[in-house]
Amino acid sequence: MPQLLRLDSSISQPSRTRQISDAFEEAWSHRGSEYTVVTRDLVAQPLPHFSSVALHWPERLRDGLAATPELEQQQREILDELEAADVLLIGAPMYNFSMPSQLKAWLDLVHVPGLTAPFDIEVQPFKGKVAYVVSAQGAAYDAGTPEETLDHVIPPLKIVLEANLGITVVPIVTSRTLADRVPALDPERAKAEFEEAVAQARTLATSYVARTV
Ligand SMILES: Cc1cc2nc3c(=O)[nH]c(=O)nc-3n(C[C@H](O)[C@H](O)[C@H](O)COP(=O)(O)O)c2cc1C
Repeated sequence: MPQLLRLDSSISQPSRTRQISDAFEEAWSHRGSEYTVVTRDLVAQPLPHFSSVALHWPERLRDGLAATPELEQQQREILDELEAADVLLIGAPMYNFSMPSQLKAWLDLVHVPGLTAPFDIEVQPFKGKVAYVVSAQGAAYDAGTPEETLDHVIPPLKIVLEANLGITVVPIVTSRTLADRVPALDPERAKAEFEEAVAQARTLATSYVARTV
Protein backbone atom coordinates (compact mmCIF):
# COMPACT_ATOMS: atom_id res chain seq x y z
CA MET A 1 0.00 0.00 0.00
CA PRO A 2 2.27 2.86 -1.11
CA GLN A 3 1.30 6.13 0.50
CA LEU A 4 1.97 9.55 -1.00
CA LEU A 5 2.39 12.57 1.27
CA ARG A 6 1.71 15.74 -0.72
CA LEU A 7 2.88 19.09 0.65
CA ASP A 8 1.96 22.40 -1.01
CA SER A 9 3.49 25.78 -0.23
CA SER A 10 2.52 28.08 -3.11
CA ILE A 11 0.49 31.21 -2.36
CA SER A 12 -0.35 31.82 -6.06
CA GLN A 13 -3.59 31.33 -7.96
CA PRO A 14 -3.13 29.61 -10.33
CA SER A 15 0.03 27.91 -9.13
CA ARG A 16 2.42 26.05 -11.41
CA THR A 17 3.73 23.85 -8.63
CA ARG A 18 0.21 22.90 -7.60
CA GLN A 19 -0.73 22.18 -11.23
CA ILE A 20 2.28 19.91 -11.69
CA SER A 21 1.59 18.20 -8.35
CA ASP A 22 -2.06 17.74 -9.42
CA ALA A 23 -0.83 15.86 -12.50
CA PHE A 24 1.42 13.69 -10.33
CA GLU A 25 -1.34 12.97 -7.82
CA GLU A 26 -3.86 12.17 -10.55
CA ALA A 27 -1.50 9.65 -12.18
CA TRP A 28 -0.65 8.20 -8.76
CA SER A 29 -4.29 7.71 -7.75
CA HIS A 30 -5.07 6.27 -11.19
CA ARG A 31 -2.79 3.32 -10.39
CA GLY A 32 -5.36 1.90 -7.99
CA SER A 33 -7.06 2.34 -4.65
CA GLU A 34 -3.99 1.03 -2.80
CA TYR A 35 -2.07 4.13 -3.96
CA THR A 36 -3.21 6.39 -1.15
CA VAL A 37 -2.66 10.13 -0.71
CA VAL A 38 -2.33 12.31 2.39
CA THR A 39 -2.27 16.05 1.72
CA ARG A 40 -0.91 18.88 3.81
CA ASP A 41 -1.44 22.41 2.55
CA LEU A 42 1.19 24.45 4.38
CA VAL A 43 -0.46 27.72 3.27
CA ALA A 44 -4.03 26.87 4.27
CA GLN A 45 -2.81 25.39 7.57
CA PRO A 46 0.57 26.97 8.32
CA LEU A 47 2.91 25.45 10.85
CA PRO A 48 4.38 27.89 13.38
CA HIS A 49 7.87 29.19 12.80
CA PHE A 50 10.48 27.40 14.84
CA SER A 51 10.35 28.86 18.35
CA SER A 52 12.07 26.32 20.56
CA VAL A 53 15.62 25.01 20.21
CA ALA A 54 14.48 21.90 22.08
CA LEU A 55 12.58 20.74 18.99
CA HIS A 56 15.84 20.56 17.02
CA TRP A 57 17.17 17.82 19.32
CA PRO A 58 16.09 14.49 20.78
CA GLU A 59 15.48 14.48 24.53
CA ARG A 60 19.00 13.25 25.43
CA LEU A 61 20.67 16.20 23.64
CA ARG A 62 18.46 18.99 24.96
CA ASP A 63 20.55 20.14 27.92
CA GLY A 64 17.42 20.51 30.01
CA LEU A 65 15.56 22.62 27.43
CA ALA A 66 11.90 21.84 26.87
CA ALA A 67 9.25 22.84 24.36
CA THR A 68 5.56 23.24 25.19
CA PRO A 69 3.45 20.05 25.02
CA GLU A 70 1.53 21.61 22.09
CA LEU A 71 4.72 22.11 20.04
CA GLU A 72 5.97 18.62 20.94
CA GLN A 73 2.65 17.15 19.84
CA GLN A 74 2.70 19.08 16.56
CA GLN A 75 6.23 17.89 15.76
CA ARG A 76 5.23 14.30 16.61
CA GLU A 77 2.32 14.54 14.17
CA ILE A 78 4.58 15.82 11.38
CA LEU A 79 7.17 13.09 12.03
CA ASP A 80 4.49 10.35 12.18
CA GLU A 81 3.03 11.62 8.91
CA LEU A 82 6.46 11.46 7.28
CA GLU A 83 7.10 8.01 8.75
CA ALA A 84 3.84 6.70 7.27
CA ALA A 85 4.65 7.98 3.78
CA ASP A 86 6.57 6.01 1.16
CA VAL A 87 6.77 8.90 -1.28
CA LEU A 88 6.79 12.67 -0.79
CA LEU A 89 5.55 15.20 -3.33
CA ILE A 90 6.79 18.61 -2.25
CA GLY A 91 5.64 21.82 -3.93
CA ALA A 92 8.55 24.23 -3.56
CA PRO A 93 8.13 27.45 -5.56
CA MET A 94 11.02 29.91 -5.62
CA TYR A 95 10.36 32.96 -3.43
CA ASN A 96 13.25 35.40 -3.19
CA PHE A 97 15.62 32.70 -4.41
CA SER A 98 14.70 30.34 -1.60
CA MET A 99 11.81 28.13 -0.48
CA PRO A 100 8.59 29.63 0.99
CA SER A 101 8.87 30.08 4.75
CA GLN A 102 5.84 27.79 5.15
CA LEU A 103 7.87 24.92 3.71
CA LYS A 104 10.93 25.88 5.73
CA ALA A 105 8.82 25.60 8.90
CA TRP A 106 8.04 21.97 7.94
CA LEU A 107 11.71 21.27 7.15
CA ASP A 108 12.78 22.66 10.53
CA LEU A 109 10.46 20.19 12.26
CA VAL A 110 11.65 17.07 10.42
CA HIS A 111 15.40 17.66 10.66
CA VAL A 112 16.29 16.47 14.16
CA PRO A 113 20.01 15.54 14.41
CA GLY A 114 20.41 12.38 16.47
CA LEU A 115 16.78 11.36 15.84
CA THR A 116 16.05 11.68 12.10
CA ALA A 117 19.62 12.32 10.90
CA PRO A 118 23.03 11.10 12.02
CA PHE A 119 24.68 13.09 14.83
CA ASP A 120 26.06 11.41 17.95
CA ILE A 121 24.62 8.12 16.67
CA GLU A 122 24.02 6.83 13.12
CA VAL A 123 20.25 7.12 12.61
CA GLN A 124 18.28 7.60 9.40
CA PRO A 125 14.75 6.27 10.05
CA PHE A 126 13.41 7.78 6.82
CA LYS A 127 16.18 6.41 4.59
CA GLY A 128 14.89 4.88 1.37
CA LYS A 129 11.87 7.16 0.89
CA VAL A 130 11.68 9.25 -2.28
CA ALA A 131 10.82 12.97 -2.43
CA TYR A 132 9.70 14.45 -5.73
CA VAL A 133 10.36 18.17 -5.35
CA VAL A 134 8.27 20.32 -7.69
CA SER A 135 9.81 23.75 -8.10
CA ALA A 136 8.72 26.73 -10.22
CA GLN A 137 10.86 29.76 -10.93
CA GLY A 138 9.68 33.04 -12.38
CA ALA A 139 12.97 33.68 -14.21
CA ALA A 140 15.56 31.40 -15.79
CA TYR A 141 18.30 29.51 -13.95
CA ASP A 142 19.67 27.36 -16.76
CA ALA A 143 22.57 25.01 -16.11
CA GLY A 144 25.83 26.55 -17.20
CA THR A 145 24.64 30.17 -16.77
CA PRO A 146 25.69 32.45 -13.88
CA GLU A 147 22.06 32.43 -12.67
CA GLU A 148 22.25 28.68 -11.97
CA THR A 149 23.90 29.34 -8.61
CA LEU A 150 21.04 31.60 -7.47
CA ASP A 151 18.67 28.69 -6.88
CA HIS A 152 18.48 28.20 -3.13
CA VAL A 153 15.38 26.02 -3.23
CA ILE A 154 16.53 22.61 -4.48
CA PRO A 155 20.08 22.66 -2.97
CA PRO A 156 19.06 22.99 0.73
CA LEU A 157 16.28 20.43 0.27
CA LYS A 158 18.87 18.06 -1.17
CA ILE A 159 21.25 18.66 1.72
CA VAL A 160 18.66 18.20 4.47
CA LEU A 161 16.39 15.53 2.97
CA GLU A 162 18.88 13.52 0.91
CA ALA A 163 22.31 13.92 2.54
CA ASN A 164 21.07 14.08 6.13
CA LEU A 165 17.78 12.16 6.25
CA GLY A 166 18.59 9.66 3.47
CA ILE A 167 15.48 10.52 1.40
CA THR A 168 16.23 10.49 -2.33
CA VAL A 169 15.35 13.86 -3.90
CA VAL A 170 14.09 13.93 -7.49
CA PRO A 171 13.57 17.51 -8.76
CA ILE A 172 10.83 18.43 -11.23
CA VAL A 173 11.49 22.03 -12.24
CA THR A 174 9.75 24.55 -14.47
CA SER A 175 11.21 28.00 -15.04
CA ARG A 176 10.37 31.25 -16.85
CA THR A 177 6.85 31.25 -15.36
CA LEU A 178 6.82 35.07 -15.53
CA ALA A 179 7.33 34.99 -19.33
CA ASP A 180 3.82 36.37 -19.95
CA ARG A 181 4.93 39.58 -18.18
CA VAL A 182 8.57 39.52 -19.33
CA PRO A 183 8.69 38.54 -23.01
CA ALA A 184 12.50 38.33 -22.92
CA LEU A 185 12.03 35.13 -20.90
CA ASP A 186 10.73 33.41 -24.05
CA PRO A 187 7.03 32.51 -23.58
CA GLU A 188 7.25 29.60 -26.06
CA ARG A 189 10.06 28.01 -24.13
CA ALA A 190 8.26 28.66 -20.82
CA LYS A 191 5.18 26.85 -22.14
CA ALA A 192 7.26 23.93 -23.41
CA GLU A 193 9.11 23.61 -20.10
CA PHE A 194 5.87 23.60 -18.15
CA GLU A 195 4.35 20.90 -20.38
CA GLU A 196 7.53 18.88 -20.03
CA ALA A 197 7.37 19.15 -16.22
CA VAL A 198 3.73 18.01 -16.19
CA ALA A 199 4.60 15.04 -18.41
CA GLN A 200 7.61 14.21 -16.24
CA ALA A 201 5.43 14.29 -13.11
CA ARG A 202 2.94 11.87 -14.69
CA THR A 203 5.71 9.52 -15.80
CA LEU A 204 7.35 9.52 -12.36
CA ALA A 205 4.04 8.83 -10.61
CA THR A 206 3.30 5.97 -12.98
CA SER A 207 6.75 4.41 -12.86
CA TYR A 208 7.43 4.59 -9.10
CA VAL A 209 8.37 1.15 -7.81
CA ALA A 210 8.20 0.46 -4.09
CA ARG A 211 11.36 -0.71 -2.37
CA THR A 212 11.44 -4.41 -1.61
CA VAL A 213 14.22 -4.29 1.01
C1 LIG B 1 6.98 36.40 -2.96
C2 LIG B 1 7.50 35.96 -4.30
C3 LIG B 1 8.88 35.98 -4.51
C4 LIG B 1 9.38 35.54 -5.73
N1 LIG B 1 10.74 35.52 -5.91
C5 LIG B 1 11.26 35.03 -7.07
C6 LIG B 1 12.67 34.93 -7.26
O1 LIG B 1 13.47 35.24 -6.40
N2 LIG B 1 13.13 34.46 -8.44
C7 LIG B 1 12.28 34.04 -9.43
O2 LIG B 1 12.75 33.59 -10.48
N3 LIG B 1 10.94 34.11 -9.26
C8 LIG B 1 10.41 34.58 -8.12
N4 LIG B 1 9.06 34.63 -7.94
C9 LIG B 1 8.18 34.09 -8.99
C10 LIG B 1 7.78 32.66 -8.68
O3 LIG B 1 8.90 31.83 -8.51
C11 LIG B 1 6.93 32.10 -9.80
O4 LIG B 1 5.74 32.88 -9.86
C12 LIG B 1 6.59 30.64 -9.63
O5 LIG B 1 5.77 30.27 -10.71
C13 LIG B 1 5.92 30.37 -8.30
O6 LIG B 1 5.39 29.07 -8.23
P1 LIG B 1 3.82 28.85 -8.18
O7 LIG B 1 3.35 29.24 -9.58
O8 LIG B 1 3.60 27.44 -7.83
O9 LIG B 1 3.26 29.79 -7.16
C14 LIG B 1 8.51 35.08 -6.74
C15 LIG B 1 7.13 35.08 -6.50
C16 LIG B 1 6.64 35.51 -5.30
C17 LIG B 1 5.15 35.46 -5.06
